[in-house]
Parts: sequence; structure tokens; C-alpha cells
Amino acid sequence: MTDSTHRIAVIPGDGIGQEVVPAAQRALEAVGERFGFRFDWTAFDWSCELYARTGSMTGDGDVSDLSGFDAIFLGAIGYPGVPDHVSLWGLLIPIRRRFIQYVNLRPVRLLPGVRTPLADRAPSDIDFVVVRENNEGEYSEIGGRLYAGTPDEMAVQQAIFTRKGVDRVLRYGFELAGTRPARHVTSATKSNGIIHTMPFWDERFQVIAADYPDIRTDQYHIDILTAHLVQHPDWFDVIVASNLFGDILSDLGPAIAGSIGLAPGANLNPDRSHPSMFEPVHGSAPDIAGRGVANPIAQILTGAMMLEQLSEVDAAATLVAAVERVLAAGATKTGDLGGAATTDDMTAAVIAALS
Ligand code: NAD
Ligand code: IPM
Ligand code: MN
Repeated sequence: MTDSTHRIAVIPGDGIGQEVVPAAQRALEAVGERFGFRFDWTAFDWSCELYARTGSMTGDGDVSDLSGFDAIFLGAIGYPGVPDHVSLWGLLIPIRRRFIQYVNLRPVRLLPGVRTPLADRAPSDIDFVVVRENNEGEYSEIGGRLYAGTPDEMAVQQAIFTRKGVDRVLRYGFELAGTRPARHVTSATKSNGIIHTMPFWDERFQVIAADYPDIRTDQYHIDILTAHLVQHPDWFDVIVASNLFGDILSDLGPAIAGSIGLAPGANLNPDRSHPSMFEPVHGSAPDIAGRGVANPIAQILTGAMMLEQLSEVDAAATLVAAVERVLAAGATKTGDLGGAATTDDMTAAVIAALS
């Protein structure tokens, strides 16, 4: 697509989100210039800082304000001073739900030039995608506390697994596997210990799998699955998982692929009835925030996923290739990759590698 303008809502959010989002915007602008399209960015200052001032993560606004945009580009939400459940349920999780972004897509690849902590593993061994259910499951507001502050205090948290919710994310995983050479789907379960929801998940996995006879399947309980990911990452292609299991696997994956600072993600509304939201897997990293040393590559690759969704497929591929060139050359490394480059150094290197 060329000669077009993409209208993007930008939420840098908290911590390093405020550093890596502008960096990635520069890289996106540069690739847009090359391919003849523009971005019309609308910035939202929704953050813990805004919460501290107004008592609301969105101030006078509301997540519905994002509904007219082509996509949402988000950094990270959450910062010490505001309880995480307040900030995340005040912004990130409502966006995922309001816009029915039921797939959280988190590709994991070991890129040439990046060191994996696993011995004797090459890029061809680590190339999988976590397809995480993003609207229900273990993340639910149903529950509560009784007898707070007394010895009888109790907390109940209700998990929700609907047939519609489970089927659509499983189906997305199978469709995705059909586009990949390995054509393989692994289901993350825990039906030995979780007696209702996980046997239901397994049952639906069997039903949906029957529609895709040419796709190989496996299923593992989440405990041994984490071990297999470390010992046999080459066994995995597409991993479908519930909200919580997918969350855990999508931090483990980038750890074996070298750094969470490289890991992109997309919250997809596959039927495109609402905008999708693009945010890296990592959070606001308060331990390094404000120093200009965060790795911007996760946010830049997240931008490439956004370009794909905007049908700028060639531009997306060019941006990914630029990142790969910089990593393979090895001259520019941020702290998480064992170097001393700054966020700006890394961004400049990627932009220079575009041509
Ligand atoms: P985190 O991902 O922010 O940080 C974990 C570790 O990874 C830290 O040591 C951090 O310095 C490092 N790291 C992360 N991104 C990096 C990058 N781009 N470059 C270099 N190093 C990087 O996870 P956390 O510490 O568990 O969470 C911090 C806050 O972020 C919490 O408030 C949490 O709730 C929130 N969070 C938000 C999101 C989101 O908005 N999508 C995701 C995860 C965590
Ligand atoms: C992620 C994050 C969020 C999640 C938190 C911050 C609520 O860990 O996007 O992976 O669990 O979905
Ligand atoms: Mn997470």
C-alpha cells in the first residue's frame, strides 16, 4: 500500500515505554518515507503519572476514544506507586477487551548474532509463536473478598472459559500453523490439576483440531511444557495457551531467544471490527527507566507487526531485515544484549540499516 496515511493512537505509557515508543516511531517514519506512506499519530498521555494527578488512568478520556483509529501503538503500563492491578485493569486490559483483541500474538525467534543462554542452539532451533487467549480465562473480575482483615479473610478469583472464547483462539492458532512450514500446533494445558476448565480446553482442542487434519498436534501440561521449551525449543511451532499460561510462556520464550528487549507482540482483533493494539511483551522496566538504555528493538519489531496489519507488508519486511542486519553485525548492543549502546544508538543503527 502506498500514498496513504495511517491514523495511529499512541500510548507510550510508563517507564521505558516513554523511551522506546518515540524511538520506534522514528524507525516507522523512516520506513514510511521509503515506501511512500505517512503516519498521523495521536498521542494519549494515559499512564500512572496521569493516574497520580487525576485518579484515573485515562484522565478525562475513555478507552472508547481509541475506537476510530487504524491501530493502537502502546509501550507499557505500570509503575511503582500505583498498584499493578489498578493501573493494568484501568487501561491495558480494558483496551484488550473493549476492542475484542482476543488473540495475543507473540512470536519468538532466535535472531542471528544474538546469544541464547541455551547451549548449542541455533536460530533454526528457536522459531515459534505463542498464541495467547487475551479476553478471558484466568484473568477475570469475577470474585471478591470476604471478612477482610479478620482471621477468616478469604479471596475468590473465578476463571472464565467460554466455548466461543476458547474456540476462536484455538482456530486462530490452527489457521496460523497452516501458513507456517512446520504446520504444528501444541496446546498448553493443565487438565490433571485443574478439573473443570482445562479438560474443557482439551476437549475443544480436539474438536477444532479435527477441522485441520493436515496440521500435526501435541499437548503438554504447562509444567513440563516449560521444561520442554528450554530443553527442546525445536519441538515448537505454534503454541496455543490460555491467558495466564500464554503470559508465562511469552516471557520464557524471549528469555531463551536472548532478551525480552527483542520480543514483539500484537493484541489482535482478527475480524477487524475494532482496532488492534501493538505492544511489546516487556513492561515498563522501572529498574532501567529514565536512563536511555532500554533496547528499542522489541518496540520496533512490534511496529513491524503493526505495519503488516496495515497491509504495509514490504515495509514491515524491510524493517525486520534492518533489525536483523544490525543484530547480525553485532556492533551495536544494548545492555540486555551484553553491550553499552543506548536506546538512541540502537534506533539510529536500525534506521541506517534500512537502506
Ligand atoms: P518488565 O518487562 O518491565 O522488566 C523485566 C526485566 O526485563 C527488567 O530487568 C527490565 O529492565 C528488563 N527489560 C524489559 N524490557 C527491556 C528492554 N526493552 N530493554 C532492556 N531491558 C528490558 O517486567 P516487570 O518488572 O515484571 O514489570 C514492570 C512493570 O511493568 C509492572 O508494573 C508490570 O505490571 C508492568 N508490565 C506491563 C506490561 C504491559 O504494559 N504490556 C507488560 C509486562 C509488565
Ligand atoms: C503482558 C503483561 C500483562 C498481562 C500484565 C501487565 C497485566 O504481563 O502483557 O504480558 O499479563 O497480560
Ligand atoms: Mn506478561
